[in-house]
Amino acid sequence: MSVTQQQVVNVLAKVMSPRGVALTEAGVLSAITVADGKVFFSINVDAHEARAWEDVRATAEAAVRGISGVTSAMIALTAERKPGSAPAPQRPAGGAPRPAGGVQPASAHRHPHQPPGGSPMSRQAEIPGVAAIIAVASGKGGVGKSTTALNLALGLRDLGLKVGLLDADIYGPSVPRLTGIRNKPELDDNRKMIPIERFGISIMSIGFLVDEDTAMIWRGPMVMSAITQMLRDVAWGTLDVLVVDMPPGTGDAQLTLAQTVPLKGAVIISTPQDLSLIDARRGLAMFKKVNVPVLGIVENMSYFQCPHCGERSDIFGHGGARHEAERLGVPFLGEIPLHMAIRTTSDAGTPVVVSEPGGPHAAIYRAIGEKVRNQLQGVIAAA
Ligand SMILES: Nc1ncnc2c1ncn2[C@@H]1O[C@H](COP(=O)(O)OP(=O)(O)O)[C@@H](O)[C@H]1O
Ligand SMILES: [Mg+2]
Repeated sequence: MSVTQQQVVNVLAKVMSPRGVALTEAGVLSAITVADGKVFFSINVDAHEARAWEDVRATAEAAVRGISGVTSAMIALTAERKPGSAPAPQRPAGGAPRPAGGVQPASAHRHPHQPPGGSPMSRQAEIPGVAAIIAVASGKGGVGKSTTALNLALGLRDLGLKVGLLDADIYGPSVPRLTGIRNKPELDDNRKMIPIERFGISIMSIGFLVDEDTAMIWRGPMVMSAITQMLRDVAWGTLDVLVVDMPPGTGDAQLTLAQTVPLKGAVIISTPQDLSLIDARRGLAMFKKVNVPVLGIVENMSYFQCPHCGERSDIFGHGGARHEAERLGVPFLGEIPLHMAIRTTSDAGTPVVVSEPGGPHAAIYRAIGEKVRNQLQGVIAAA
């Protein structure tokens, strides 16, 4: 018998909220999604109230899990700042001052007096066993964010690190295509999803769970629920680095994500075109706003390399990202040519770092990986 929304509402009506009324009367619930025994919804409260609501979230989740036929329940606590209200504190008063240039070394990211978890909202707690989570982000889609995220993850693997890849682009998950993975993750004894192992890295994508059409209709809080679940309900095991392929853009969903995932840093992907650089600047601003250190900018499709003669032409007036990075005082991590091999290997599900490990492109991704790793020193175990 399939679970109905009404059944969920009925159990939530018995959960008391900090406002002294039932959870269903408190005016904090998002739409409730029920599909295939899976229940998703969020509780939206003001940031300063979040701590008081954490128990309610847990109680509600347990109550929903108790409904017969429910196979999983994901209830996210989302704290939306109301316009005009004080900003949610990102770090305790008197936190370490930022070094000149605005970019913090990753090791300074967590203030020594900050409690483990770093936030009143436990969703922001670290993932046990995962040393560093980094975001790969872009101001807009189609700049090669996913291709770079995957090949960067593989480059980090080549440096001897234990690496995971989370495709959090729930609007357009592309990791199934880029990796050729078609199977669904299985559950372990603790009912956590086991990431798919491929190319020596642990991979999870919303695209493994739902077909692309379903992912497309998720909006707002649902995005967060899905991503929180992929982060926390997955048996990642022990990882040095978890690379997160973020949804493109700098809207509310991306901001919430940047705020919610305990990120040690962000890598911004840009193409040389001006427009994309403007978008990249928005990306930088977004991460600065939530105190996530920007590890640097990568210029993708930087120059055209002829697949026949290897000759290089700067058809896009390349170098814009390097210049911009210098101007903004963030590290420049490298430039990746626009090359047929990168595209065809991606489309075939055999990323170039795997299919041509000795080639020039793999070397570029490894070099970028090295710069990223160096910035995470102190966070990940010396490898
Ligand atoms: N450096 C590159 N050279 C050639 N093609 C590339 C390169 N980077 C990405 N692509 C191609 O561009 C398209 C978009 O890349 P993708 O990684 O899916 O972008 P995004 O995740 O930003 O939307 C894909 O077809 C991909 O194969
Ligand atoms: Mg993508």
